[in-house]
Amino acid sequence: MELSVLDIVLWGVLPYVMVVVLVGGLVWRYKYDQFGWTTRSSQLYESRLLRIASPLFHFGLLAVIAGHFFGLVIPMAWTEAVGMSQEFYHFNALLVGGIAGVGTLGGIALLIYRRRTTGPVFMATTRNDKTMYVVLTAAIVFGLWTTLVSVFEGEHGHNYRETVSPWFRSLFILQPDIAAMAEAPFSFHLHTLVGMALFVIWPFTRLVHAFTAPFHYLFRPYIVYRSRDRDRNGKRRGVQTGAATRTPSTAARPGWSAVGTRDRDTRNR
Ligand code: HEM
Repeated sequence: MELSVLDIVLWGVLPYVMVVVLVGGLVWRYKYDQFGWTTRSSQLYESRLLRIASPLFHFGLLAVIAGHFFGLVIPMAWTEAVGMSQEFYHFNALLVGGIAGVGTLGGIALLIYRRRTTGPVFMATTRNDKTMYVVLTAAIVFGLWTTLVSVFEGEHGHNYRETVSPWFRSLFILQPDIAAMAEAPFSFHLHTLVGMALFVIWPFTRLVHAFTAPFHYLFRPYIVYRSRDRDRNGKRRGVQTGAATRTPSTAARPGWSAVGTRDRDTRNR
């Protein structure tokens, strides 16, 4: 197959530029903006919608990432070797991937709705955040589009495990299979390009929190913004200061004692 310059740039050069910007950007941000390494949580302003939208989005995305790992990293020959037919693989990929993708899209839609309709949250939204939301949503929508196209085309549809997946794996051995990726349909090209754009802007947005280490962040206790201390009879204990009552903060519950988190917690939020 004759390769065009555009194919070479898009599938042979751009992925490596993306990795350099992603890694370089993360190093730069860590060096110069360690205290800005945060989600800039808006939980303090609104938590009712956030409690539904955030897990929906994050758990959906975890399932989407797992699907990408299976689809892009595990070669077709391996699933065939363990007796998994193409039809069975694709049926499950479309079903599970579709549910995960719709969940992620629902989550992000709710997060954006909340951000737009809750005054203080909207006020705390920067232009940087808005750009990030557009690219993130586009990556999810175009991803789902590839899934939808596959559903409608059925067994005559395009098998991305013969084009996108070998290309993806070839990048890691520094021998990009540009011809394989060039053969994929437009929907896959678009989704992959937007996906790469998301990785390029990643270090410079609040998405940086996803690369938080050490990983005790995942298991740390919730941050207590405000607590009511009660005595044994259930009465509020507090310090009367004029009209206002100041309450001392509650001691951390045993199951949630912070392990190795100390003052770092505030930085990772
Ligand atoms: C840049 C590298 C990426 C590649 C090569 C890639 C490739 C693919 C492929 C081949 C599919 C079709 C899966 C199927 O129909 O079974 C897909 C679906 C999807 N992708 Fe990506 N993707 C990339 C990045 C991303 C990113 C960054 C996101 C979102 C944050 C994303 C979100 C989705 C979603 C929501 C779906 C549909 C549901 C699913 O199958 O999980 N992708 N992607």
